[in-house]
Amino acid sequence: MKTQVNGITIAYSDRGIGLPIVFLHAFPLNRTMWATQEHALSSRFRVITIDLRGHGESDAPLWRYTLEQSADDVNALLDQLAIQQALFVGLSMGGYILFAFYRKYARRVKGLVLADTRAQADTAEGKEGRFQMAQTAYKKGPSAIAGIMISKLLSPATIQTKPDLVRQVRAMIEGNQISGIAGDLMAMAERPDSAPLLSQITCPTQIIVGELDQATPPPDAKLMAEKIPGAHLAIIPGAAHLTNLEQPDKFNQIVTAFASELVKGKQS
Ligand code: MLT
Repeated sequence: MKTQVNGITIAYSDRGIGLPIVFLHAFPLNRTMWATQEHALSSRFRVITIDLRGHGESDAPLWRYTLEQSADDVNALLDQLAIQQALFVGLSMGGYILFAFYRKYARRVKGLVLADTRAQADTAEGKEGRFQMAQTAYKKGPSAIAGIMISKLLSPATIQTKPDLVRQVRAMIEGNQISGIAGDLMAMAERPDSAPLLSQITCPTQIIVGELDQATPPPDAKLMAEKIPGAHLAIIPGAAHLTNLEQPDKFNQIVTAFASELVKGKQS
Protein backbone atom coordinates (compact mmCIF):
# COMPACT_ATOMS: atom_id res chain seq x y z
CA MET A 1 0.00 0.00 0.00
CA LYS A 2 1.09 3.57 -0.57
CA THR A 3 0.21 6.90 0.97
CA GLN A 4 1.41 10.51 1.06
CA VAL A 5 3.17 11.74 4.18
CA ASN A 6 5.19 14.91 4.61
CA GLY A 7 5.16 15.58 0.86
CA ILE A 8 6.42 12.18 -0.32
CA THR A 9 4.99 8.74 -1.10
CA ILE A 10 5.58 6.09 1.53
CA ALA A 11 4.96 2.37 0.93
CA TYR A 12 3.90 0.09 3.75
CA SER A 13 2.14 -3.18 4.54
CA ASP A 14 -0.55 -3.61 7.18
CA ARG A 15 -1.59 -7.18 8.01
CA GLY A 16 -3.46 -8.84 10.84
CA ILE A 17 -5.40 -7.56 13.82
CA GLY A 18 -4.55 -7.03 17.48
CA LEU A 19 -1.67 -5.15 19.11
CA PRO A 20 -0.01 -3.07 16.37
CA ILE A 21 3.66 -3.94 15.86
CA VAL A 22 5.57 -1.48 13.67
CA PHE A 23 8.79 -2.76 12.10
CA LEU A 24 11.54 -0.35 10.96
CA HIS A 25 14.20 -1.83 8.72
CA ALA A 26 17.98 -1.54 8.55
CA PHE A 27 20.22 0.41 6.15
CA PRO A 28 20.25 -0.08 3.16
CA LEU A 29 17.37 -2.56 2.97
CA ASN A 30 13.59 -2.25 2.81
CA ARG A 31 10.42 -3.55 4.46
CA THR A 32 10.65 -6.95 2.79
CA MET A 33 13.43 -7.82 5.24
CA TRP A 34 10.54 -8.40 7.68
CA ALA A 35 8.65 -10.88 5.46
CA THR A 36 9.25 -13.82 7.81
CA GLN A 37 8.19 -11.78 10.85
CA GLU A 38 5.09 -10.55 9.00
CA HIS A 39 4.17 -14.10 8.11
CA ALA A 40 4.77 -15.50 11.60
CA LEU A 41 3.25 -12.71 13.69
CA SER A 42 0.29 -11.41 11.69
CA SER A 43 -1.94 -14.29 12.80
CA ARG A 44 -1.85 -12.80 16.33
CA PHE A 45 -0.91 -9.16 15.94
CA ARG A 46 -1.37 -6.25 13.53
CA VAL A 47 1.96 -6.10 11.72
CA ILE A 48 2.97 -2.88 9.96
CA THR A 49 6.15 -2.75 7.92
CA ILE A 50 7.29 0.49 6.34
CA ASP A 51 9.69 1.36 3.54
CA LEU A 52 11.44 4.31 5.16
CA ARG A 53 11.99 7.31 2.90
CA GLY A 54 14.76 6.54 0.41
CA HIS A 55 14.03 2.77 0.37
CA GLY A 56 12.08 0.12 -1.47
CA GLU A 57 8.86 1.41 -2.98
CA SER A 58 8.89 4.70 -1.07
CA ASP A 59 10.12 7.91 -2.65
CA ALA A 60 13.82 8.65 -2.46
CA PRO A 61 13.88 12.45 -2.71
CA LEU A 62 17.16 14.23 -3.21
CA TRP A 63 17.21 15.75 0.27
CA ARG A 64 15.50 16.03 3.67
CA TYR A 65 17.05 12.99 5.28
CA THR A 66 17.39 13.09 9.03
CA LEU A 67 16.43 10.35 11.44
CA GLU A 68 13.95 12.79 12.98
CA GLN A 69 12.38 13.24 9.54
CA SER A 70 11.96 9.46 9.25
CA ALA A 71 10.43 9.44 12.75
CA ASP A 72 8.01 12.17 11.58
CA ASP A 73 7.10 10.02 8.56
CA VAL A 74 6.31 7.06 10.81
CA ASN A 75 4.26 9.27 13.11
CA ALA A 76 2.26 10.71 10.18
CA LEU A 77 1.57 7.21 8.85
CA LEU A 78 0.32 6.08 12.26
CA ASP A 79 -2.00 9.10 12.34
CA GLN A 80 -3.43 8.02 9.00
CA LEU A 81 -3.86 4.43 10.19
CA ALA A 82 -5.54 5.69 13.39
CA ILE A 83 -3.02 3.81 15.54
CA GLN A 84 -2.61 5.53 18.89
CA GLN A 85 0.01 3.25 20.41
CA ALA A 86 2.17 0.40 19.15
CA LEU A 87 5.06 -1.89 19.88
CA PHE A 88 7.99 -0.74 17.74
CA VAL A 89 10.72 -3.03 16.45
CA GLY A 90 13.77 -1.34 14.92
CA LEU A 91 16.86 -3.08 13.63
CA SER A 92 20.08 -1.07 13.38
CA MET A 93 19.13 2.15 11.52
CA GLY A 94 15.55 1.29 12.43
CA GLY A 95 16.68 1.44 16.07
CA TYR A 96 18.40 4.81 15.56
CA ILE A 97 15.08 6.09 14.19
CA LEU A 98 13.27 4.71 17.23
CA PHE A 99 15.45 6.83 19.50
CA ALA A 100 14.45 9.89 17.45
CA PHE A 101 10.82 8.72 17.56
CA TYR A 102 10.91 8.22 21.32
CA ARG A 103 12.31 11.71 21.86
CA LYS A 104 9.30 13.25 20.12
CA TYR A 105 6.48 10.74 20.36
CA ALA A 106 7.04 8.67 23.52
CA ARG A 107 3.30 8.64 24.24
CA ARG A 108 2.82 6.46 21.15
CA VAL A 109 5.32 3.82 22.32
CA LYS A 110 3.82 0.90 24.21
CA GLY A 111 7.03 -1.10 23.99
CA LEU A 112 10.37 -1.17 22.18
CA VAL A 113 12.40 -3.93 20.59
CA LEU A 114 15.87 -2.59 19.82
CA ALA A 115 17.67 -5.11 17.63
CA ASP A 116 21.31 -4.95 16.52
CA THR A 117 21.51 -1.24 17.11
CA ARG A 118 23.37 1.21 19.32
CA ALA A 119 22.66 4.37 21.27
CA GLN A 120 26.00 6.08 20.69
CA ALA A 121 26.54 8.58 17.86
CA ASP A 122 29.14 7.94 15.15
CA THR A 123 32.78 8.51 15.95
CA ALA A 124 34.77 10.90 13.74
CA GLU A 125 36.13 7.83 11.93
CA GLY A 126 32.60 6.46 11.53
CA LYS A 127 31.42 9.73 9.98
CA GLU A 128 34.34 9.69 7.56
CA GLY A 129 33.38 6.11 6.59
CA ARG A 130 29.82 7.30 5.85
CA PHE A 131 31.18 10.03 3.57
CA GLN A 132 33.38 7.54 1.72
CA MET A 133 30.47 5.13 1.29
CA ALA A 134 28.25 7.91 -0.06
CA GLN A 135 30.98 8.75 -2.57
CA THR A 136 31.14 5.09 -3.59
CA ALA A 137 27.35 5.00 -4.05
CA TYR A 138 27.51 8.17 -6.13
CA LYS A 139 30.37 7.00 -8.34
CA LYS A 140 29.69 3.27 -8.62
CA GLY A 141 26.02 2.75 -7.77
CA PRO A 142 24.11 0.55 -5.31
CA SER A 143 25.71 -2.75 -6.37
CA ALA A 144 29.06 -1.47 -5.09
CA ILE A 145 27.33 -0.79 -1.77
CA ALA A 146 25.98 -4.35 -1.76
CA GLY A 147 29.55 -5.58 -2.24
CA ILE A 148 30.69 -3.63 0.83
CA MET A 149 27.69 -4.31 3.05
CA ILE A 150 26.96 -8.05 2.70
CA SER A 151 29.90 -9.14 4.87
CA LYS A 152 28.98 -6.50 7.49
CA LEU A 153 25.38 -7.67 7.66
CA LEU A 154 25.65 -11.48 7.54
CA SER A 155 27.89 -13.99 9.30
CA PRO A 156 30.51 -15.92 7.28
CA ALA A 157 28.50 -19.12 7.84
CA THR A 158 25.31 -17.50 6.52
CA ILE A 159 27.18 -16.24 3.46
CA GLN A 160 28.55 -19.73 2.80
CA THR A 161 25.46 -21.80 3.46
CA LYS A 162 22.46 -19.59 2.59
CA PRO A 163 22.97 -18.31 -0.98
CA ASP A 164 19.26 -17.50 -1.38
CA LEU A 165 19.35 -15.23 1.65
CA VAL A 166 22.50 -13.53 0.36
CA ARG A 167 20.76 -12.96 -3.00
CA GLN A 168 17.71 -11.54 -1.23
CA VAL A 169 19.80 -9.08 0.78
CA ARG A 170 21.79 -8.10 -2.31
CA ALA A 171 18.59 -7.47 -4.28
CA MET A 172 17.22 -5.26 -1.49
CA ILE A 173 20.39 -3.17 -1.48
CA GLU A 174 20.60 -2.95 -5.27
CA GLY A 175 16.96 -1.85 -5.43
CA ASN A 176 17.78 1.40 -3.65
CA GLN A 177 18.36 4.72 -5.34
CA ILE A 178 21.60 6.59 -4.79
CA SER A 179 19.73 9.56 -3.30
CA GLY A 180 18.29 7.29 -0.61
CA ILE A 181 21.61 5.65 0.20
CA ALA A 182 23.48 8.96 0.41
CA GLY A 183 20.63 10.57 2.34
CA ASP A 184 20.64 7.81 4.95
CA LEU A 185 24.40 7.97 5.33
CA MET A 186 24.23 11.70 6.00
CA ALA A 187 21.33 11.24 8.41
CA MET A 188 23.14 8.52 10.36
CA ALA A 189 26.37 10.53 10.47
CA GLU A 190 24.51 13.52 11.90
CA ARG A 191 22.47 11.62 14.48
CA PRO A 192 22.85 12.77 18.08
CA ASP A 193 24.16 10.61 20.89
CA SER A 194 21.15 8.78 22.34
CA ALA A 195 23.04 7.36 25.33
CA PRO A 196 21.66 10.10 27.64
CA LEU A 197 18.13 9.14 26.54
CA LEU A 198 18.43 5.52 27.69
CA SER A 199 17.75 6.12 31.39
CA GLN A 200 14.62 8.11 30.45
CA ILE A 201 12.98 5.30 28.50
CA THR A 202 10.08 4.15 30.63
CA CYS A 203 8.32 1.63 28.38
CA PRO A 204 9.02 -2.13 28.42
CA THR A 205 12.07 -2.78 26.26
CA GLN A 206 13.58 -5.88 24.72
CA ILE A 207 17.12 -5.72 23.34
CA ILE A 208 18.27 -8.29 20.77
CA VAL A 209 21.74 -8.77 19.30
CA GLY A 210 23.49 -11.42 17.24
CA GLU A 211 26.47 -12.87 19.07
CA LEU A 212 28.57 -12.33 15.91
CA ASP A 213 27.32 -8.83 15.15
CA GLN A 214 30.32 -6.67 14.29
CA ALA A 215 28.42 -3.59 13.09
CA THR A 216 26.68 -3.07 16.46
CA PRO A 217 28.33 -5.67 18.67
CA PRO A 218 27.02 -7.22 21.91
CA PRO A 219 28.74 -4.64 24.20
CA ASP A 220 26.53 -1.94 22.58
CA ALA A 221 23.47 -4.06 23.34
CA LYS A 222 24.64 -4.62 26.91
CA LEU A 223 25.03 -0.87 27.39
CA MET A 224 21.40 -0.32 26.33
CA ALA A 225 20.22 -3.17 28.55
CA GLU A 226 22.08 -1.73 31.54
CA LYS A 227 20.83 1.82 31.10
CA ILE A 228 17.19 1.33 30.07
CA PRO A 229 15.27 0.59 33.27
CA GLY A 230 13.98 -3.00 33.31
CA ALA A 231 15.20 -3.84 29.78
CA HIS A 232 15.73 -7.47 28.81
CA LEU A 233 18.63 -8.62 26.66
CA ALA A 234 18.67 -11.61 24.31
CA ILE A 235 21.86 -12.62 22.50
CA ILE A 236 21.13 -14.82 19.48
CA PRO A 237 23.82 -17.43 18.79
CA GLY A 238 24.99 -17.99 15.23
CA ALA A 239 23.73 -14.64 13.94
CA ALA A 240 25.61 -11.50 12.93
CA HIS A 241 23.86 -8.16 12.25
CA LEU A 242 20.63 -9.23 10.51
CA THR A 243 19.37 -11.46 13.33
CA ASN A 244 15.79 -11.49 12.02
CA LEU A 245 16.94 -12.97 8.70
CA GLU A 246 19.73 -15.22 9.93
CA GLN A 247 17.86 -16.77 12.88
CA PRO A 248 14.21 -15.95 12.12
CA ASP A 249 12.68 -18.58 14.41
CA LYS A 250 14.61 -17.39 17.45
CA PHE A 251 13.95 -13.73 16.60
CA ASN A 252 10.22 -14.35 16.11
CA GLN A 253 10.01 -16.30 19.33
CA ILE A 254 11.54 -13.41 21.31
CA VAL A 255 9.29 -10.78 19.71
CA THR A 256 6.17 -12.95 20.08
CA ALA A 257 6.86 -13.60 23.76
CA PHE A 258 7.53 -9.91 24.41
CA ALA A 259 4.41 -8.78 22.51
CA SER A 260 2.25 -11.39 24.29
CA GLU A 261 3.43 -10.15 27.69
CA LEU A 262 2.70 -6.57 26.61
CA VAL A 263 -0.85 -7.54 25.67
CA LYS A 264 -1.32 -9.21 29.06
CA GLY A 265 0.14 -6.09 30.69
CA LYS A 266 2.78 -8.16 32.43
CA GLN A 267 5.86 -6.34 31.20
CA SER A 268 7.51 -4.16 33.78
C1 MLT B 1 22.19 -0.82 9.48
O1 MLT B 1 22.17 -2.07 9.45
O2 MLT B 1 21.15 -0.15 9.54
C2 MLT B 1 23.52 -0.15 9.42
O3 MLT B 1 24.55 -1.10 9.51
C3 MLT B 1 23.63 0.87 10.50
C4 MLT B 1 24.93 1.62 10.47
O4 MLT B 1 25.60 1.65 9.42
O5 MLT B 1 25.26 2.24 11.49
